[in-house]
Amino acid sequence: MFDKDFIFGVATASFQIEGSLDADGRCKSIWDTFTENKKNILDGSDASKCSDSYLRYKEDVKLIKELGVDAYRFSIAWPRVIDENNKPNKKGIRYYVNLCKELIKKNIKPIVTLYHWDLPQWLEDKGGFLNDEISNYFEYYVDVITKALDGLVTDYITINEPQCIIYTSHVACVFAPGTKYSDKEILKAVHNLLLCHGKAVKVIRRNVKNSTVGIAPCSRPIIPFDKNNKLLEQKCYEKYFECKKEGEYANLVSIYSDPIFLGDYPKSYYEDFKDILPNITKEDLELIHQPLDYLYQNFYSGTYYNFDEAGNLKQEPFYPGFPEGNIDWLQVVPEALYYGPKFLYQRYKTPIIISENGFCDNDFVSLDGKVHDPGRVDYLKRYLMEFERVSKEIEVKGYFVWSLFDNFEWNSGLRKRFGLVYVDYRTGDRIKKDSFKEYKNIIKKRGV
Ligand code: NOJ
Repeated sequence: MFDKDFIFGVATASFQIEGSLDADGRCKSIWDTFTENKKNILDGSDASKCSDSYLRYKEDVKLIKELGVDAYRFSIAWPRVIDENNKPNKKGIRYYVNLCKELIKKNIKPIVTLYHWDLPQWLEDKGGFLNDEISNYFEYYVDVITKALDGLVTDYITINEPQCIIYTSHVACVFAPGTKYSDKEILKAVHNLLLCHGKAVKVIRRNVKNSTVGIAPCSRPIIPFDKNNKLLEQKCYEKYFECKKEGEYANLVSIYSDPIFLGDYPKSYYEDFKDILPNITKEDLELIHQPLDYLYQNFYSGTYYNFDEAGNLKQEPFYPGFPEGNIDWLQVVPEALYYGPKFLYQRYKTPIIISENGFCDNDFVSLDGKVHDPGRVDYLKRYLMEFERVSKEIEVKGYFVWSLFDNFEWNSGLRKRFGLVYVDYRTGDRIKKDSFKEYKNIIKKRGV
């Protein structure tokens, strides 16, 4: 069982659920542009309707209430609340005020993500994260929205998955805007992103009484294949926090979390990139390194490592037929919720909240009219059991399932389903899956 004050929650993000992309003066985001090219999206779909939450938020809140969670994590669409002239858009802001009021009325704590990837297109046109002014624009937006939500929201997450904002969008180029960056540009964009975070934290602390603040990176923990080998565990820890030029450094942990939680980039960063470093001042590092209440983290899967015969660390392949969800990166590795939090806590000494964890499956309506998702039920239990195990060893404060309902899964479009609630995209109808009932039970028992 988890502690009494442990937060059980469920999460979503603006672009993935809201639809109504032209409503009330919302301006275009980079994802609107990206989805215009159907080839960018697995099923050629777009987010013009998806779960229709801009119009159906009251219904959403009823579902959330029925689920019995303590908190709802959602994100604000920057292009809804700030217009193309960089002025507040009252109508867009009103939507979030109404949503928060509705949640509070039902005793559900709103947890707000300020940036979940829907950058206004007009800011991308000015250079996006390569523009040194981007953190000033972000600071302004955060100032506007925190003031507007004053008295309603105390808990903020500055940025969701910096790894996807930089790596997936500008190295792999499969997320919006999909433009390739050189190593030098990546480092500059990472630094600008960290400055966005730092400035946002300052604004939140200034504007919000009793605030709690965190950031929500993602990671794929390195899991020791042999649980009893302490040396292997130590090597896995080191690999998890690696930052090397020849590695996928922008998709890993330390390039973001070291400056934020430890006050500086890793030593290897300065060595490996010495010729292409961005301009990093002492003031920048101080701004980025401000006390945070929580280290949020999105965890879905992990990778096993073992020693080879020569004693070197090597990846242990998944055996054929290894349990997995129906998206290529989602192998079922429940120990991710043990070693991930453990390693993060060991390094950053900040209480951990799992801001996302969930399962993608090919859910459909059965003959009995219900949606049975045994894979997701099993996944949630296995992962929560591991999280419960680590909760005896480190400080953990909460857990959020991704996601409340099926939604627009970025470059996989509407084809991939993560919800506890099924959405029929033709009608907008919602059907609670078996996992909804199971999670509700878990919450009631405060554990698996
Ligand atoms: C992480 C992202 O934050 C979320 O937007 C996405 O839908 C889930 N992972 C599943 O891929």
